[in-house]
Amino acid sequence: MKPVEELMAEHQAILKMLNILEKILLVHKKDHIISIPHLNQIVIFFKVFIDKCHHGKEEKFLFPAFEEAGIPNEGGLMGIMSEEHHLGRQYVEEMSKALNLKENEDHNISRFSEASYRYTGLLRSHIEKENQILFPMGEARLSSMDRKKISDQFFQWEKNEIGWDQHESFHCLVENLGSIY
Ligand SMILES: [Fe+2]
Ligand SMILES: [Fe+2]
Repeated sequence: MKPVEELMAEHQAILKMLNILEKILLVHKKDHIISIPHLNQIVIFFKVFIDKCHHGKEEKFLFPAFEEAGIPNEGGLMGIMSEEHHLGRQYVEEMSKALNLKENEDHNISRFSEASYRYTGLLRSHIEKENQILFPMGEARLSSMDRKKISDQFFQWEKNEIGWDQHESFHCLVENLGSIY
């Protein structure tokens, strides 16, 4: 699998999780029922699977390889992508804080929902830009040696920073929550 195909497959898992979160919030709006443990699991997915693993692979390995291949970073699409990763991190922090507040539960959920809607909107348009524009443009400039090098870097990053078990367990979490909601 090419490195961009691996990341695009992760985009599918990320989009599934965003849909699950939206369903959870819709059910809460309608019936006032919500599972805080599920929200906590989703926030961990956002922090570790999306930010550390997925955005880490893009920022540390893919974007520098694209830059070396002649695509401008600062002021270009990759600069925007990195800024959006940073903004997404702030929304996830806000979700995390809202879940840990000691105030009344309704207030916490409304703060959580507000940050969630911002985050889901941001990530959907972010993924669309990567899938439709940046990845095809960058991929076309990579040599087979570049691809091999990036794939190796991805492999090492997941193994050392995330761990295989945890990486797999995140895919299982998406499936499990998807079967509930
Ligand atoms: Fe990204
Ligand atoms: Fe991405």
